[in-house]
Amino acid sequence: VSHTSSSGRQRREHWDAAYAGRSVTAVSWYQATPTVSLELIERLCVPPSETIVDIGGGASLLVDALLARGFSDVSVLDISSVALDEVRRRTEGRPGAEGRPVTLIHDDVLHWRPTRPVGVWHDRAVLHFLTEPAQRDRYLATMRSALGPGGAVIMATFAPDGPEYCSGLPVARYGTSELASLIGADFEVVAQRREEHVTPAGVVQPFSWVAARRRERDRSVAT
Ligand SMILES: C[S@@+](CC[C@H](N)C(=O)[O-])C[C@H]1O[C@@H](n2cnc3c(N)ncnc32)[C@H](O)[C@@H]1O
Repeated sequence: VSHTSSSGRQRREHWDAAYAGRSVTAVSWYQATPTVSLELIERLCVPPSETIVDIGGGASLLVDALLARGFSDVSVLDISSVALDEVRRRTEGRPGAEGRPVTLIHDDVLHWRPTRPVGVWHDRAVLHFLTEPAQRDRYLATMRSALGPGGAVIMATFAPDGPEYCSGLPVARYGTSELASLIGADFEVVAQRREEHVTPAGVVQPFSWVAARRRERDRSVAT
């Protein structure tokens, strides 16, 4: 492990500290309504029975919005138990449409092994912390193993003119076409967006968003 690479323990401690002792509405990435995520989920025509995982979802209100829209199989994966405790508090006694509670997964996305297929992989502002190619490759391999043919991904990072740091950590910034090529040529881009997120302190942070769907098996090769 190089000395520039943060260990899993350092990452966990950083994020627990980022959430501890302050209101979730005070963090720079807070949004009262996850507008672009919801719009892209609609653009992808995701049925409410679909398995959605919010990767590094933290205390985001996306899970609440999905429950309110009748989604029944929602998971939040995060490295911070402080953030997940907050989601648990909010969603307890508020199961999804099929009576299924929200699944909280306390893990590092760089170590996580999905145990069942994922229908939608949602990531707002998590991949951009993976500034080392080996970490990024590991993340993308996990995403690919989780998503079968027809699976969808929604990814948001800081744009090329966005901030160089997020939560005090250096980030990699991407344009929408760079994001699309990271996701891979076997995914078809359904929508791209540039968003100017305004932090609770009033700072504008440009984001790049891509929504893409994995192509069904290449028909020119099979059958
Ligand atoms: C900038 S916040 C964004 C939170 C959420 N996606 C949102 O839009 O509100 C980054 C989130 O990723 C989580 N995170 C960072 N590194 C992670 C990792 N390696 N594995 C899992 N979660 C991670 C943090 O705990 C934090 O909740």
